[in-house]
Amino acid sequence: MMARKENSAEYGRHVIKLETVKRYPIIVGDGILSGLEGYFDFSVYFGIALITDTTVKKLYGQSVLALLEATGKKLSLLTLPVGERAKSLNIVERGYRFLLENNIDRKGLICALGGGVVGDVAGYLAATYLRGIDYIQLPTTLLAQVDSSIGGKVGVNFEGKKNMVGSFYQPSAIISDVSFIKSLPPAEMRNGMAEVIKYGLAMDEELFRLLDQKKEKELNTAELQDIVMRCCQLKAGIVEADETERTGQRAILNFGHTIGHALEAATKMQALSHGEAVAIGMAAAARISEQVGMLDQGNISSIENLLSKFGLPIYCQGVNPDDLLSATRFDKKTTRGQTGWVLLKGIGNGVTNQPVAEDVVRKALMEICR
Ligand SMILES: NC(=O)c1ccc[n+]([C@@H]2O[C@H](COP(=O)([O-])OP(=O)(O)OC[C@H]3O[C@@H](n4cnc5c(N)ncnc54)[C@H](O)[C@@H]3O)[C@@H](O)[C@H]2O)c1
Repeated sequence: MMARKENSAEYGRHVIKLETVKRYPIIVGDGILSGLEGYFDFSVYFGIALITDTTVKKLYGQSVLALLEATGKKLSLLTLPVGERAKSLNIVERGYRFLLENNIDRKGLICALGGGVVGDVAGYLAATYLRGIDYIQLPTTLLAQVDSSIGGKVGVNFEGKKNMVGSFYQPSAIISDVSFIKSLPPAEMRNGMAEVIKYGLAMDEELFRLLDQKKEKELNTAELQDIVMRCCQLKAGIVEADETERTGQRAILNFGHTIGHALEAATKMQALSHGEAVAIGMAAAARISEQVGMLDQGNISSIENLLSKFGLPIYCQGVNPDDLLSATRFDKKTTRGQTGWVLLKGIGNGVTNQPVAEDVVRKALMEICR
């Protein structure tokens, strides 16, 4: 399930046209942000609010502000704190005040420049301020380019629970400049690679083989651009088919996440990053797939080797498998006490909503916790 890709002569870059409630483009390329004005019609807006975080502001704030200034529109800048703590209703309230003080009205545009945190918060502000104003995503992390900027899920955390408050609200454009990735710290690169590998395992065998055949974990710009484009097409295809997570198709994107979330809960998110937890979750889901006869033993080692090559863990020594097992029961994807597992019927072929006996899950958990 892949969305259509166009090689636009006008843009000279890859463009996907996403068909949701709103039709909008995803544009992927290297160094494309410098041509920002050519990709998006700013002329219909009265004011532009650029929202970013302190780290991204230091790295790219000046250059992006200069590009936006060229539109001749009234410009304002809101800088969020770095990291998950920015995903709060307090920050959202600060955002409303900022938009109001800067006279952003229904003819205003929000530009989200940053990783998934900035995208989720800025998107939520756009979804709710004045009952909804336009926003565009300028994602700067690998994770945001391949995943979080696409599909319109926006929101914040509440009472310690991730993404408890939010909406489905599509952006007006996503402009993914892979040159941003060059400044990403290795840990953030690994987080993004976990999601890239997820697409390969659950949806795209060719992507898996492409990553598997690479000797080095470093990706050059052309490879990065192709990978980001491929993942955008995969996610766009799913989002088009199941925009508001009603038909169950979007669940394929949760491959590795049931145990991943359980690990984050069991370790209180201290020991592992999200990408690391998902990597272990994918390794465990592959073992479960093998135990129920869907996957060959040989595939398990290929999957584990690939995760390890990109610096991702496949074991979580010291974690109690029983704690993990009970945490899987509380995963938000559990319905009526039954966890619907995403398993692999071969590499590149994920299947959703699979019932799995608890002793099979326990065996896999004991193996990854050893
Ligand atoms: N909306 C969705 O569909 C969706 C999907 C997946 C994840 N998410 C959310 O995304 C968030 C995680 O996103 P993330 O991994 O991008 O984290 P993030 O936004 O916290 O960014 C990670 C770190 O990288 C820094 N950074 C960003 N761009 C940089 C660059 N180019 N160079 C150097 N440093 C840079 C940031 O300042 C931050 O410190 C979570 O809150 C998660 O819930 C949302």
